[in-house]
Amino acid sequence: HKNGIQVAIDGPASAGKSTVAKLVAKQFGYIYVDTGAMYRAITYKVLKSGLSLDNETAISDIVRSSEISFAPSDKGQLVYIDGEDITEAIRQEDVTNSVSAVSAISTVREELSADQQRIAINGGVVMDGRDIGSTVLPDAEVKIFLIASVEERAQRRYKENIEKGIDTPLDELQLEIEARDYKDSHRKISPLTKADDAVEIDTTSLSIEEVVEKIASVIKDELNSN
Ligand code: CDP
Ligand code: CDP
Repeated sequence: HKNGIQVAIDGPASAGKSTVAKLVAKQFGYIYVDTGAMYRAITYKVLKSGLSLDNETAISDIVRSSEISFAPSDKGQLVYIDGEDITEAIRQEDVTNSVSAVSAISTVREELSADQQRIAINGGVVMDGRDIGSTVLPDAEVKIFLIASVEERAQRRYKENIEKGIDTPLDELQLEIEARDYKDSHRKISPLTKADDAVEIDTTSLSIEEVVEKIASVIKDELNSN
């Protein structure tokens, strides 16, 4: 690829994908693509339209006619749908609780995967999600699968929420994470799964810096082998 390699980072909820993917992208001067934000953006619009989550025809129309975009800012990456800034709205609980149902719909996956493939075509990209190494970018030169215990992942989400002034009980967060992982791993189309050639990293007792360093070293090995 003319701009560099493709780096795919997959794993369950709150394993640390987006946090480390952003830092890795920065280190190599690559673009970062948060595919979860794309599924969340469509879910936001579906909820706003008042559609039922099983109205696949109407949801398919939404995904075909919507324009999702990203823009950098000093507060981090902003997410837009049809020009509306939805950066914060897509992290709300209603979106989180409905995103797995929306992301299981075949037309939603087809449209968003095709967009993701177009963005990554020239390489120089770090993309995180659930099916990037297995389905979206099967030829990615580097594939990482991040995992962490569910207790640790619930703790991470708890801490994040507290910083935002939200105090959801820890056990509730753990149940939400388990339910979403179950749905994401058991859907018919491109479920969450570790690609055969992915490097698995258990981040349970690792710092963000340690995870970034491990991934950077896999990338450097790949770049040096060519
Ligand atoms: O950050 P968090 O772990 O909460 O999740 P996310 O990466 O924002 O993804 C939200 C949801 O989008 C996931 O639970 C999946 O249902 C869906 N998703 C997907 O199906 N495929 C992807 N490549 C990325 C996300
Ligand atoms: O994208 P994903 O849902 O996999 O996780 P995230 O939103 O990047 O990370 C969840 C939280 O875990 C963030 O608040 C990180 O600061 C924290 N964390 C981490 O990402 N990696 C570690 N090794 C330790 C903590």
